[in-house]
Amino acid sequence: MGFGRENFFWHKLHSLTGVIPIGFYMIQHLTLNSFSLAGPSKFNGVIGFFESVPKHLLLVLEIGLLGLPILFHGIYGLFITSRADLDVAKGAYPWRESRMFWLQRWTGVGLFLLLILHVATTTVNAKINGPQVIEWQAWHDKLTSFGYVILIVYMIGIVAAAYHLCYGLWNFCIRWGITVSGHSQRAMQKFSAFAFVAVTLLGWIALFGFLKEPSTGSDDGEAVQVRRELAVPISSP
Ligand code: HEM
Ligand code: HEM
Repeated sequence: MGFGRENFFWHKLHSLTGVIPIGFYMIQHLTLNSFSLAGPSKFNGVIGFFESVPKHLLLVLEIGLLGLPILFHGIYGLFITSRADLDVAKGAYPWRESRMFWLQRWTGVGLFLLLILHVATTTVNAKINGPQVIEWQAWHDKLTSFGYVILIVYMIGIVAAAYHLCYGLWNFCIRWGITVSGHSQRAMQKFSAFAFVAVTLLGWIALFGFLKEPSTGSDDGEAVQVRRELAVPISSP
């Protein structure tokens, strides 16, 4: 028993959905979220663009191109993780590789829980309460409150997602026969390590973009003026 021929198709489909569409979606999602750095109006412009897509079309795209593939990849991934892999248990892989292998599976379990919370508090929340709950100011308030706990959870979630995707890409290339020789597999491993750092930084940069206080030049000027006026009566004899 185990993953014999009967599961070959589903396992391949699981592997493919990890890269297309989920991997691609994550890269473009983090790239668009890094508009947070450009300030509230630019970031809210990106949110507004999705709001301007006709509702039914957006729903079909969200469910068909993203929701169902993630649901399939996540649930089948939990199923894979729940079964002991005899090759690894028997020590068929060197220790370091089996550790990386397990880490990819456990990051998958963590991502499953985090994605449920993430989608509930973003897309679902916005459909119920309106787009302002996912606009720049809402992210600023959320990430800077509760002693930065949510920020830390997001930072860890980004590392887990980046690891899962990038280690997955290395595995994917072997599984699909893209990297066959030892040389090309080692080269891919280097690329994966580089991509892991790059994707982590991309996500962290997007998060840090929400942290600074939004300030326009004139607002700052007014604030300084008010402080000066207040200072006069206190400091004068
Ligand atoms: C920097 C961290 C992140 C921020 C600020 C963020 C922000 C958002 C926002 C604002 C939405 C609402 C829909 C939209 O405007 O796109 C959303 C939805 C979503 N996010 Fe994230 N996200 C982050 C990280 C991630 C990661 C790492 C994943 C993993 C793949 C992810 C997966 C999703 C999914 C699946 C949805 C629902 C998609 C949909 O509505 O069509 N997000 N996120
Ligand atoms: C929703 C929670 C998720 C779970 C439970 C999960 C689970 C898994 C598991 C167990 C594997 C290993 C399959 C194997 O070794 O045969 C895997 C592979 C993979 N996953 Fe996920 N995953 C999740 C989310 C994601 C996300 C958000 C992405 C993309 C950002 C992703 C991308 C990949 C890739 C690229 C692979 C490699 C495919 C391969 O081995 O050929 N996964 N996933």
